[in-house]
Amino acid sequence: MARRRQLYEGKAKILFEGPEPGTLVQYFKDDASSDNGTKTGVITGKGVLNNRISEYLMMRLGEIGIPTHFVRRLNMREQLIREVEIIPLEVVVRNVAAGSLSTRLGINEGTRLPRSIIEYYFKNPTLNHPLVSEEHITCFGWAGTADLDDMVALTLRINDFLSGLLLGVGITLVDFKLEFGRLWENDEMRIILADEISPDNCRLWDSKTQEKMDKDRFRRDLGKVEEGYQEVARRLGILPEAGMRDLKGPETMQ
Ligand code: TMP
Repeated sequence: MARRRQLYEGKAKILFEGPEPGTLVQYFKDDASSDNGTKTGVITGKGVLNNRISEYLMMRLGEIGIPTHFVRRLNMREQLIREVEIIPLEVVVRNVAAGSLSTRLGINEGTRLPRSIIEYYFKNPTLNHPLVSEEHITCFGWAGTADLDDMVALTLRINDFLSGLLLGVGITLVDFKLEFGRLWENDEMRIILADEISPDNCRLWDSKTQEKMDKDRFRRDLGKVEEGYQEVARRLGILPEAGMRDLKGPETMQ
């Protein structure tokens, strides 16, 4: 097979040129990092599980009319996606206080918020992804007000839908991070959901015990990191057919 052109390598994913114009191949790695790259490690099988979990959640979102970049899964670690112009924002939704919100404002972790909160962070690792307001976003041209309206409307629908879907399998969606991109079709621009939705960028707690089943197990050295990701996939009914043995998956063809 011809060697594919690598376009980007991030901490958890690699993007390759896709088979047709306007497509990319998104490869999920087992590498994990936190604290803006100062803590690194490997979570065995994470790439395989995140590929499946993100596929599953984006397909369910597609079924209720949320436009996403997901086209189809290619193999254990790769999915075909539509190429978009990424908007340089991390859109975080919070339903329950945790993480940086708890630290910044002194609100106990686990406190249910009176309503869901949307926050924006400027996607810039050099600056450690700072919290920004709509004023910063429109002033510096990262997105316009109409783009923000579209992102907020999509984000609220995604939050409602995923909160319900996950609660159905005994998981509380505490918070999560989304990224959006611009898709150009016949001179028309649409904002669609990009990146991934997985335990790497969501806080997922067991609804009864509050046990964490997400990347906080890695960030906070809680142990049983792999098990947390596996449990999310198991509850969603999407563990790879061969079970845990299969989680390393085949290496990508380059
Ligand atoms: P935070 O509490 O650290 O601000 O994180 C809020 C949510 O956003 C949490 O589910 C983890 C996710 N997140 C990312 O996916 N990437 C990031 O770089 C950060 C800071 C948070």
